[in-house]
Amino acid sequence: MTQPSLLASLDRRLFLRQLSAGAIGLICVSARRDSVLAADESRLLVHSKAPMNAEPLLPDLVRSWVTPVESFFIRSHGNTPEIKADSFRLSIEGLVESPLSLSLSELGRFEQHGVTATLTCAGNRRSEHSRVKPVKGVQWREGAIGNAKWRGARLSDLLKKAGVRESAKHVWFEGLDAVEDGGKTFAFGGSIPLEKALLDRDTMPGALLATTMNDQPLTADHGFPVRMVVPGYVGARSVKWLSKIVVSDRPSPNHFVADVYKLIDEGTLLEVAENGPIYRMPLNSAICTPTAGAALKPGRIEVAGYALPPGVPGVSIRKVEVSADSGRSWTEAKLNSAAADFCWQLWSAEVAVNSATKELIVRAIDSRGEIQPETVRWNAKGYLFNAWHHVAVN
Ligand code: MTE
Repeated sequence: MTQPSLLASLDRRLFLRQLSAGAIGLICVSARRDSVLAADESRLLVHSKAPMNAEPLLPDLVRSWVTPVESFFIRSHGNTPEIKADSFRLSIEGLVESPLSLSLSELGRFEQHGVTATLTCAGNRRSEHSRVKPVKGVQWREGAIGNAKWRGARLSDLLKKAGVRESAKHVWFEGLDAVEDGGKTFAFGGSIPLEKALLDRDTMPGALLATTMNDQPLTADHGFPVRMVVPGYVGARSVKWLSKIVVSDRPSPNHFVADVYKLIDEGTLLEVAENGPIYRMPLNSAICTPTAGAALKPGRIEVAGYALPPGVPGVSIRKVEVSADSGRSWTEAKLNSAAADFCWQLWSAEVAVNSATKELIVRAIDSRGEIQPETVRWNAKGYLFNAWHHVAVN
């Protein structure tokens, strides 16, 4: 099915669903959310239901290179909005020659591109920061990460059509959700440098307006009907329920760019003002099986997990190493998928354990020779935790 006809059928299916839900459009959303929730009960660790924040159990996460939607983490700052596909419009404005307002079918007429890219939350592994000193926010374990196939129009093609003015430097995104924070209600927003938006390489777009995830229309929780996917950047820049794109000469003033997704020590206003937004995802790796507390029999055991290259174009995972003796010796893991930009690799290793084994450790090394750090500096918002991953075993 070509993408325009997929969008047309998506429009039709949603329209029929809305008809059957009658005038109470909300029924439509809660029915879809319930179906996600039904899967959550058994497959996801649900941190909160309204807004929905959930992550898969680690052994599920590494069953396949492409993460099934049911096992994909959900990170939402506000409740999942109800969006009617037939009246949906996306605007492109700001420093452009011709502002655009596009329906879903008009968006479907742009050349459609597919990409497989890993999405990870800047707060993945926050609970490990909290072990050093408590950090507020969702206490993510190692599962706020997933690898999916996305398809849609390239942001660069929309920008070319609108004609970007010379003074432009950043592209802002705004969602249709209503986030409540500090007594105010506002939409979630993100922004990326214009250069990244235009950095299309072979099969890797700088940024994509995805309408499908793993060949299916986006689910409500993952941003139906359109979301940004910014390969290589932390998930916060991949704005869901996208409704507005603004081309500007500066980063977005949205709370989630100006104040929230920043690396700061203690969280003072001065630090927030002095530090720029986080963009790239860091080199990372984690053990997904065995899980913490597992009782192991002495002998050879299989250890498996993921390794994430940093969000630097052309940099991949060179090596993953596992230690069963607190880092005195390391076993090289087998990488079970080909290296691809901005995509995780799943790995497995056979290591010998004995009665003295107290923990398993993993670390990744990238193609530049950079080693995942042994420890990381605590930060007030608990972002970018990428120290060697330790799993205590019995
Ligand atoms: N977009 C909107 N509109 N609202 C949000 O709360 N959360 C962001 C991003 N896009 C968010 C959003 C964050 S922090 C992450 S990590 C990713 O969406 C998570 O995407 P997912 O829920 O599809 O996994």
